[in-house]
Amino acid sequence: MRVGVLTGGGDCPGLNAVIRAVVRRGVAEYGYEFVGFRDGWKGPLEGITVPLDISSVRGILPRGGTILGSSRTNPFKVEGGIEQIEKNLESLGIDALIAIGGEDTLGVATKLTEHGFNVIGVPKTIDNDLSATDFTFGFDTAVTVASEAIDRLHTTAESHHRILICEVMGRHAGWIALHSGMAGGANGILIPEVPFDLDEVIGWVESRFKASYAPILCVAEGALPKDGTLITKDATLDAFGHVKLSGIGEWLAAKIEDVTGHEARTTVLGHIQRGGSPTAFDRVLATRFGLNAVTSVKDQAWGTMVALQGTDIVRVPLEEATGVLKTVPMARYEEASSFFG
Ligand code: F6P
Repeated sequence: MRVGVLTGGGDCPGLNAVIRAVVRRGVAEYGYEFVGFRDGWKGPLEGITVPLDISSVRGILPRGGTILGSSRTNPFKVEGGIEQIEKNLESLGIDALIAIGGEDTLGVATKLTEHGFNVIGVPKTIDNDLSATDFTFGFDTAVTVASEAIDRLHTTAESHHRILICEVMGRHAGWIALHSGMAGGANGILIPEVPFDLDEVIGWVESRFKASYAPILCVAEGALPKDGTLITKDATLDAFGHVKLSGIGEWLAAKIEDVTGHEARTTVLGHIQRGGSPTAFDRVLATRFGLNAVTSVKDQAWGTMVALQGTDIVRVPLEEATGVLKTVPMARYEEASSFFG
């Protein structure tokens, strides 16, 4: 069996651990051959491959990023894209595909399954917003990076009696903000799921100053005020229709300074949350995902995705994981709100 592997969408630490596990088990236990496709769905679309064998994956477990490269290519946005992929897979003698990605990459995998392709999905995103899996790898590393940043912001905020705002990633789900805000002891957490009341946020800030502490706010890039609109970098959209988020942190700092007279500063963590070496949790989860994904190929469980449920790795239908985003439930936000203000 010749199996193609691709990594699509926003990269994250842990991708190489998946690739390593897929190849190690696939070669050693199933006698498979592997072909690496470059840069997400661009690889199958344009027939761009790299060799993928035991030697290719030696030493990559702790390395961030993806040895295959990634992109946000959407073959359904390319005239004749699916037919092109079919032709390339046939000429390369590929029997099955393992697609490692988030909602967009796995959304393409779902549609290709409906077109009769043999595809297995592996959920990946720092946003942790994929349904049907308790966690995705990349998330724990992003939360660890953001929590360490918030720890550092506390000391400089105290020195200058300032409000420090930490803007984190998460596109349209506030999981990174929720976890890193709680872990870092933020005095306010703003997430897309709960549009915020600016007066309430200012109340949290004022109460912290009254208690002689400097307020720290953890803000998801997709957070927005109750009567406001999403703040984006520009009007461009990617091939899956996503805007480029960022700016809410600076917007909030300016508003708070205007109203309270206290100095406010913003730190946008951006792609630092997606770089560097994966945490141990992400290495183990990614490795387990990879091992089980190649076993799903052996079992010909096409159209399924590996997922973490409790401590078990299970198989779920791809459409179950990509239909609706997993967003932060109100109960989780209310739990965190015990520490606001
Ligand atoms: O989906 C993961 C993610 O990091 C989001 O949190 C973020 O909004 C987006 O990707 C950034 O995309 P890009 O790296 O293409 O700018």
